[in-house]
Amino acid sequence: MALSEAVSPPRHIAIIMDGNGRWAKNRGLPRTAGHAAGAETFRRIANHCRALGVEYLTVYAFSTENWKRSEEEIAGIMRLLGNYLHEALRDMEKNRVRFRFFGDLTRLSPELQKLCQEAQTASSDYDVQVNFCLNYGGRDEIVRACRRFAREVAEGKRQPEELTEAMLSGYLYSADVPDPELIIRPSGEMRTSNFLLWQSAYSEFVFMNVLWPDFGPADLDAAIAEYHRRNRRFGGV
Ligand code: FPP
Repeated sequence: MALSEAVSPPRHIAIIMDGNGRWAKNRGLPRTAGHAAGAETFRRIANHCRALGVEYLTVYAFSTENWKRSEEEIAGIMRLLGNYLHEALRDMEKNRVRFRFFGDLTRLSPELQKLCQEAQTASSDYDVQVNFCLNYGGRDEIVRACRRFAREVAEGKRQPEELTEAMLSGYLYSADVPDPELIIRPSGEMRTSNFLLWQSAYSEFVFMNVLWPDFGPADLDAAIAEYHRRNRRFGGV
């Protein structure tokens, strides 16, 4: 029986798309070739998520720390994102995907910012929402949320005592998105790397020994099966 028939998938899956560089190095290719293969994997996995009925897919495409990479590599990743968004805008109706962007987009090129804006506002009917984390850092997101709240306190619109966890969630990029039940990190690394720090408080993490460009629908099914084997207690017994 296919997984989709056997069990309902989590509503929200988040993925750290890791291992592109090593995949390319293993083949004697430039790192940008690894990212290009990673972008293809993303397309396949987003389609698979839609077919399974996943409502939200959040992917870590570029972190606040990734600016430390070479100009060539950064330009390569941005080009791939631009190409993908062009294509997605063209095929919006067919693909039934809605886009959101988590991160500070002001550091991106004006062209890419415009594409993100267009993709975000082109809200046709959709089956799955893809959240691209772009120039995103979990700590940065929380600091920005605190600043916004502090500004409102300074303006007399809020009282410090009013702040609750739910209210703080509303100041994050993910304001209207439920927390991810499942976070997948391929490539064998076992850390969160500043990804969805607030939202992952009770997420199930699945770390896998496959490099992102080699990650296929069967790997996603395996991660979901592992998620269903977990006993989620949320601090209870
Ligand atoms: C991490 O692997 C990957 C990134 C920092 C970039 C991810 C970007 C893409 C997959 C392309 C974006 C485009 C679309 C359409 C999704 P790494 O480079 O750190 O790998 P390594 O640890 O093996 O060096």
